[in-house]
This record gives sequence, structure tokens and C-alpha cells, in this order.
Amino acid sequence: MKLTRNQLISPFGLKLEVTNYGATITRLQVPDRNGILTDVVVGLPHVEDYLSETYKNYNFCLGATIGRYAGRISKGGFSLGDQFFELSHTDSVQLHGGENALNQQLWTVDAVEEGAFPFIQFSLKSKAGDNGFPGNLNLIAKYQLENNILKIMYSATTDAPTVINLTNHAYFNLDGQGSTCGNELFVNAAKYLELDERLVPTGSLLDVKDTPFDYTEKTELHFKGHYGMDTPFVLNHGEIKASLYAQRSGIQMNVMTNQPAVVLFTPHDFGNLMVRNKENFQEFPAICFECQNFPDAPNQPNFPSALLLPGETYYNEIKYQFEVK
Ligand code: GAL
Repeated sequence: MKLTRNQLISPFGLKLEVTNYGATITRLQVPDRNGILTDVVVGLPHVEDYLSETYKNYNFCLGATIGRYAGRISKGGFSLGDQFFELSHTDSVQLHGGENALNQQLWTVDAVEEGAFPFIQFSLKSKAGDNGFPGNLNLIAKYQLENNILKIMYSATTDAPTVINLTNHAYFNLDGQGSTCGNELFVNAAKYLELDERLVPTGSLLDVKDTPFDYTEKTELHFKGHYGMDTPFVLNHGEIKASLYAQRSGIQMNVMTNQPAVVLFTPHDFGNLMVRNKENFQEFPAICFECQNFPDAPNQPNFPSALLLPGETYYNEIKYQFEVK
């Protein structure tokens, strides 16, 4: 497997590194309040490390492009009309598109542009029947730096009706060290999805008010009332969908997206996986803002549709904007 390694640099000072393996963000550096570059995304030390068995087994999907369906699909598959499509699954649940999904494929580098708004574009064809999903899919993942913004654009077309839900799985630590505990978090969501013990949505939308998931006002990220979050939030209107501020570096990140939900995932640690700077991390070292449709939407008629038809284009846009305070 030939892994690529590309770097994009914006005039503002953002430095992004990506690889074709899973169209993955391997590193993102952002100037802190003193102008010193801070590694804000968790990655592995060398690009070859992404091919290791240990990394695959942990399935953290660090910075990777997730699909064909981000999050969980229950019932061992889904129906379109009267046809049932069985997906590869474990105990009737498929996570993140199953094994050897988009995050483990070698994408093609279509274009790399330097200049004021540098970008890289990857593409991938996913065959009909891939892990059970219908439709030959043409996928594009484009990463662009616009001054202080990292803009991610995922698009897809199909030749047969299918379902789709892509996202990026970057783990952020805006201090580049320590814990995210105590960072200031804002989530523009009055509701979150109730999950069952398999982490599959029950179909109910619950109020965040009076729960540990109420971040409608900037609040210190805490791990009281739950052992870390793995929680889909239903996004309200408004440009900024979430933000995170780290006191030590002074870096604030604003999250913007056209998607209806964000899954916040806060692992307790990275186990024995040798991530970069591992020795400098503490418990709850990072947080993912996975902008996407609702998990299990193909089996939940009251969730936003995940259907993609021939002639339509799926488009998911995520912006991570960086400021210092
Ligand atoms: C999250 C998912 C978690 C965990 C993680 C790493 O999106 O909800 O349960 O699997 O990805 O793969």
C-alpha cells in the first residue's frame, strides 16, 4: 500500500497534514495565543502506523473519513421500499460502515493546490454491495484551509438508491496536551438522542435541560453523571453549532456544519495505542465533534432521511474555525 503524506499551510498559520489512507487528517497545527504552533488533533507518529494491526483493532478512526454510514445501524441492515439490505454486522449492529470501510481504504489524490486557500481533494469509488450497501458510490473528500478555518467537504453520488452518512473523526485537544476536562464547551443543542445499551438510538429525543448534557451555555466540560460522552446532539439553528475553548493555549475552536447532528465522543484514554505525545495526555485526552445525520436514521422513520437517490448529490460541510483569546 502506498501511503501519501501532504501538508497544507494557510497564510493565517494553520498547518494540516493528511494521508490517502482513509482520507485521514493526521495532524493539525494551530498558533496559540503566543503564536506557538500547537498540535490540536490526535494522530499517530508515522503515517505507516495507520496500517498497523493495533491501530485497526482499536478502531479509534483517528481523523479518518467515516462511512458509508457513520455511527450505528441496527436490525442487521435496513429496508428501502420492500427490499431489505443486510449489512455486515456484529449482533445486528453495524458501526461506522463495518470492517474495511471508507476509513481503511486508500483514496486517490485528485488535486493539491497551494496558495491563499490551499486544498487537497481525494476520491474513492465504493462498489455496490460494499459491506451490504447498495449503489455504486462516487465519493469526494476535500480539505481546504481558508485563513483560520479548516473546511471539510464530503460529497457523493450513487447509481442506485442507497443510504449515506459521512463524517470526520478527528480527536481534538486544543492544548495539545493534558485533558479536555475543564475546557469550556458550548453545544447549540436543546435535545440529544436517547441511546439503548448498544448505543443505538431508541428514537426518542430528550431535553438536555437538567441533564449532564446541557452545554447550551458555555460550561466547563465535565465527566459527572456519565463516564465520558458518546452522545448524538440534535443541532439547533444558528451558525455556530459548537465551540471548545482551552485556557492554557487560549485556542478556541468553533464548529459549523450543514448537518442535523453532532456526535460528541470523549474516550477515557487511548489504551495501549501509541498516539503522538501520548506521555503528555491525561484522562479524557480529546473530544470528537462528528458532524453528521442521526445514527440509525435508515431504521427510524422520524429521523431526518439518509436516502440518496441517483441524480442527487450528498453534501456534508464541516468547518472548524480557530481563534485565540
Ligand atoms: C464513535 C462511536 C464510539 C466509538 C468511536 C471510535 O463515533 O460512537 O462508540 O466507536 O467512534 O470508533
